[in-house]
Amino acid sequence: MQTMPGRLIVDVPLIDRRTDPVQSDAPWEDPAALAVDWLPGADEERMPMTVSTVDAEGFPGARTVLLSEFDGERFFFHTDAASQKAADLTANPKVSLTILWPGFTRQLVVQGTAEIAPPDEASRAYATRSPYLRQLAWLNTTENARLPRAEREQRWAAFAAQHPEPAQPDGWVGYGVTPHRMLFWVSHPGAPSRRVEYTRTSRGWTHRHLPG
Ligand SMILES: Cc1cc2nc3c(=O)[nH]c(=O)nc-3n(C[C@H](O)[C@H](O)[C@H](O)COP(=O)(O)O)c2cc1C
Repeated sequence: MQTMPGRLIVDVPLIDRRTDPVQSDAPWEDPAALAVDWLPGADEERMPMTVSTVDAEGFPGARTVLLSEFDGERFFFHTDAASQKAADLTANPKVSLTILWPGFTRQLVVQGTAEIAPPDEASRAYATRSPYLRQLAWLNTTENARLPRAEREQRWAAFAAQHPEPAQPDGWVGYGVTPHRMLFWVSHPGAPSRRVEYTRTSRGWTHRHLPG
């Protein structure tokens, strides 16, 4: 375990951070390739991601979701169409995503614009969900949230018994976020942390180094 003033760095193999592509003095030109390099593959565990939106009154709101996929162009997540985040995105599709890697080794911050994902993408994602998450997609309602615990458990058990793998509900919606700015942060065991910031321009992506 390594210590730095004011914080603790969980031990991860030094090689990971020193050889991270972001440590290169010549950053990759394409942030999408870098994101693909960093993010888990389709068969691996999905990563938690903070989705930040702004509500109709201008207040920011943030919550964790699981990143469904990055297809090389857009970051997808899935949620309930009746949720606050969905209402926020309808009023203002500008969004920020924050993904933190275990051990405080890497952070990816994305600013972009969210659009409702094509129905086939949402259906593909739903098909990969566990029975628990499918049942949750049906039962995660305001009405159920207000019930006493015993009744919520009873409803869950009855629904799960009747619908072991329920079909996709109408309210299941996907969002695809097209980035216009991406910030890759890496820690370094022997140098200051730093970021590479990519900004989309009419001629493609530009990049520059920023302090961590
Ligand atoms: C680890 C973790 C993963 C979560 N994944 C999702 C998800 O993929 N989709 C989702 O709608 N909510 C997910 N949630 C619940 C959200 O954080 C949030 O409470 C819910 O979506 C309602 O948010 P909203 O009212 O701001 O729209 C997750 C929560 C946690 C702690």
